[in-house]
Amino acid sequence: MADNRPIGVFDSGLGGLTVMKELIKLLPNEDIVYFGDTGRVPYGTRSSATIEKYALQDQKLLLKHDVKLIVAACGTVSSVAKNAARQSTVPYFGVVEHAARQAAKVTKNQKIGVIGTAATIKSGAHEDHIKEILPNATVIAQCCSLFVPLVEEGWVSKDNLAVYDTAKRYLEPIKQAGVDTLILGCTHYPLLKDVIASIMGEDVTLINMGEATALAVAEYIKSNSLSTAKQTADYRFMVTDKTASFTKTASMLMGQNVESENIELVDIDKL
Ligand code: DGL
Repeated sequence: MADNRPIGVFDSGLGGLTVMKELIKLLPNEDIVYFGDTGRVPYGTRSSATIEKYALQDQKLLLKHDVKLIVAACGTVSSVAKNAARQSTVPYFGVVEHAARQAAKVTKNQKIGVIGTAATIKSGAHEDHIKEILPNATVIAQCCSLFVPLVEEGWVSKDNLAVYDTAKRYLEPIKQAGVDTLILGCTHYPLLKDVIASIMGEDVTLINMGEATALAVAEYIKSNSLSTAKQTADYRFMVTDKTASFTKTASMLMGQNVESENIELVDIDKL
């Protein structure tokens, strides 16, 4: 049996596009509906109650589009919004668990770094998942609050001194602690991969939550007969505010021009 309904993906902004890109690599025929809450980003500095409320609204929007599965492509939502996961009427994937599992698999010295938003780091979600597998692992967590605004501003180049200096300040203590694995615990951070890799050095494995989660989603779709019968995929983008950085990042990650007029503006309060 085939299931031609789309996969729903959401994030607070453009970060979840890094997860969508990984999904497309593994599931090129699947339709995807992407929702970025660009009008309310960032989520990571907000209270748990607000993150939970936003996540439930985001999920409701995707369910209205008859998605067969939801990917919460946001480290903050995946770490904090437990009700969104529980209340979903379709299979629901967060990004934290699969990334933590992959980190536990690749580390050799059991010293793992985690970087993320304030809410993600406060939740300890990555560490909890890592310790379920490696109870003696040392987890060094660091909140990198300035990374999301930098990415949303389109400042991602390692040659940009402000970007480099900010990253160096956040990452140096983690590097000094001797981690051999670093989880990019926010889906915006793969866009800063070059600068993060140059500071951490080639001996540190960077874990992209999108890659780890896309593998799990692809596996689930195949083993539950949820694959589409379509031969080409359609992608739909919805946002709560049209921003130049969303259009630019979507075009860059999709490898094709995503025109602003093809991005739909939604009013999340009128669901
Ligand atoms: N991409 C979101 C995450 O993975 C960004 C968080 C935010 O909006 O602060 O956490």
